[in-house]
Amino acid sequence: MQKLIIKGRKELSGKISISGSKNATLPILAASILASKVSIKNIPLVKDIFTMIELLNFIGLKTKLNKSKKIIEIINKNTKINTLAPYKLVKTMRAGVLVLGPLLTRYKKAKVSLPGGCAIGTRPVDLHLFALKKLGAKIKIKDGYILAQAKNGLRGTNISFPSISVGATENALLAAFQAKGETVMKNCAIEPEIIDLIIFLKKLGANIKLKGRTIFIKERKVKKSKIIHEVIFDRIELGTYMIASALLAKKDLKINKVNPKIIKSEIDVLKKIGVSIIKKKTSVVVKKGINLKKINITTKPYPGFPTDLQAQLMVLLTQVNGISKIKENIFENRFMHVPELKRMGAQIEIKGKTAIIKGPTKLTGAEVMATDLRASVSLVLAGLVAENRTIINRLYHLDRGYEFLENKLNSCQAKIKRI
Ligand code: UD1
Repeated sequence: MQKLIIKGRKELSGKISISGSKNATLPILAASILASKVSIKNIPLVKDIFTMIELLNFIGLKTKLNKSKKIIEIINKNTKINTLAPYKLVKTMRAGVLVLGPLLTRYKKAKVSLPGGCAIGTRPVDLHLFALKKLGAKIKIKDGYILAQAKNGLRGTNISFPSISVGATENALLAAFQAKGETVMKNCAIEPEIIDLIIFLKKLGANIKLKGRTIFIKERKVKKSKIIHEVIFDRIELGTYMIASALLAKKDLKINKVNPKIIKSEIDVLKKIGVSIIKKKTSVVVKKGINLKKINITTKPYPGFPTDLQAQLMVLLTQVNGISKIKENIFENRFMHVPELKRMGAQIEIKGKTAIIKGPTKLTGAEVMATDLRASVSLVLAGLVAENRTIINRLYHLDRGYEFLENKLNSCQAKIKRI
């Protein structure tokens, strides 16, 4: 089993380039089921993306990933299509459930494994199924699989989501794209990754309009010509490296290949804490934070502060003056990094949905265990700022979503070794 060994308290300097967004690439890959030929650029080379590609191959699409150029070419010849997403692929990557909408709308049936629970909470798919049923799908759950059918095709309808879900909005969008007539979806997630999916679907021929949290989709024919798309940057990776810079930049650190306008709430939060950030057109420059101030914050759907940066922010808050509070409002069990951070010396107390963080505290290296993707990277940040050596176990979580993490940090003078 691989481990990361981090020698802490090394100041960071230099530049980091941000990769393509994993969470945007996954639904766009699922959307390629609807197309004939696509070429997608800026593909992040991470485990979840490889799993999704494996799933597309299983379904019968032809994929060719050029790793050095980070481009994938996908061809759907529309023959020998397997409308099945097996357990072995969906269990490791929940986003596998996103093939349900496109398979159902194009091939009128799909059998997709239920993703099951995961470490950060139960993560049901009831909202995905609610939307598909509204669009006319007949759905049964049998032997751990979702069996969905729409013999006469899906029909446009009105869908009002009872609560906001990124995945359910994506699945519904993908299904409604080829549903007859018009679909109006209210209370949708409007994360930048969903906007990227809409841009991709429009290239495919879709007529989609967005107003606030309402999405209007009109039936359109899919274009047969080749679609070329470049995936948006990974705003969570950017947020993670902005926090690393705030903790450890020698002078400042430049983070490239981003659009700062998209992460306004994250930048506002860091500025409120006292971090100096200079926004440029396609980069941000972050200085090490001095005399940082406490903050109270709640995670929310976009444009609010993202749950995917909660664990990383918590590490920064162990280093600020005073008592900060983070309320986790999206997932019920997303504080699993807390016991590990406490083993490194952090003073954090959990009260219901809220973590109370006392700072500043000196962190010291320890052997710790990664529990989920974002928790893992928070332990890397803690290891970077801690005295002595930190050993991080269970790296497969980290490898699901962070491309070349140790290479990127080591190129900025961090001392991280994978063994
Ligand atoms: C996506 C992101 C994940 C991020 C999350 C919230 C991807 C691949 N993953 O996950 O990184 O943390 O958005 O920003 O893009 N829920 C239900 N029923 C459903 C679906 C969701 O109750 O059918 C609940 C979830 O348990 C959770 C909340 O809704 O409490 C939000 O989840 P959702 O937005 O769906 O997250 P994902 O799409 O799974």
